[in-house]
Amino acid sequence: MKDIDKEPFFIKEIKEQPKVLANTLTQYLGPNRHLKMTRPPLDDQTLRKVRQVYITACGTSFHAGMTARYIFEELTQLPTVVEPASEAGRHHLLIDENTLAVAISQSGRSQDTLAALNLAKSRGAVTLGLVNESPSPLTESALGSIMTLAGQVFTLSSTKAFTSQTLVLGLLAVRLAQSRGLMKEKWPRDLESLGRIPELVRYVLTLEDKVVHMAKALASYDHVFILARGALLPMAYEGALKLKEVAHFHAEGYSAGEFGHGPLAMVGSHTPIILIAFSGEADQSNLALIRAFRARGAPVWLISEDGPKKDLAMAAMSEVFFPLPAVQPRLRPIVAIIPLQLLAYHLGRLRMVDVDSPGGLLGGEDLVKPAFSP
Ligand code: F6R
Repeated sequence: MKDIDKEPFFIKEIKEQPKVLANTLTQYLGPNRHLKMTRPPLDDQTLRKVRQVYITACGTSFHAGMTARYIFEELTQLPTVVEPASEAGRHHLLIDENTLAVAISQSGRSQDTLAALNLAKSRGAVTLGLVNESPSPLTESALGSIMTLAGQVFTLSSTKAFTSQTLVLGLLAVRLAQSRGLMKEKWPRDLESLGRIPELVRYVLTLEDKVVHMAKALASYDHVFILARGALLPMAYEGALKLKEVAHFHAEGYSAGEFGHGPLAMVGSHTPIILIAFSGEADQSNLALIRAFRARGAPVWLISEDGPKKDLAMAAMSEVFFPLPAVQPRLRPIVAIIPLQLLAYHLGRLRMVDVDSPGGLLGGEDLVKPAFSP
């Protein structure tokens, strides 16, 4: 029987993230900054042949893949396609031996992800499994595997595995770009900022009290929209997934740019909006959106970078401002998801949900659950 007063694994795992990310960096960057990524290692010759990247996964792991697309395209300059594994067999999949196919799975057991990887393999792609559990069906099937080093996962809802997937995918993009001779002077500078990630996540976790206030406020509504753009958009999807799954609360992640093409009609005093937006990125469009929301009486809660007053116009117009530390743009997604994970936890507790086992995995907990029980 569960002890309901015990701290749930879900929050423990959220709080383990700084340690997990630090461990990942230590393991993968090493003293010589040589990214030893795969088992067995993928050599430069194989990587140089790659002409496109195909990333596939389910659920939260899929959101890590969506985030990775931005960094893969930027650093490797290769076309990068990301799709939910359940869709892989439902269209004419353009994959060949020049494709690097990366299947992401915390458990290494999701059947759709395994099937998508095998499909890519049957087309001759170079297949990689990005997993937290090994050996697992995915590591058995893939040509190479990369571990996320998130440690033992006790909950069914992924948090620390998600941020480590996102980090390791970034490192894989660096590795691929290196093998293509594309890193040049960007390489050392990027690594310096990467090293700050654990400390930044630790800092955001200290802002938990602010999230508790947000959770209490959100509890009096029935739904929320979470909006973002670019590499932060997958965080809006992931935050919404966590709220639905862990807090049993209706949340919808949506592109901030698309929101003014119809969904805006839904907005009123009954629809709080969480906007994840850093200044300097589509400022005028974001300000226009906030104005439109406020004009309709909707509370706007902004998750953004703290900074000098002149950069805080969006914050001034929002009802709640959740300040994130300044961080290199490529690392923003990892920092920005933390308050949303915490929000799902606190709202879930307020709504009396068993956050460790919230019941969101269709008949298939066997397919994705940890290999052991706490
Ligand atoms: C949601 C969640 C799920 C999993 C998905 C894939 O919190 O954890 O969406 O991400 O079921 O599981 P894995 O990564 O084990 O393949």
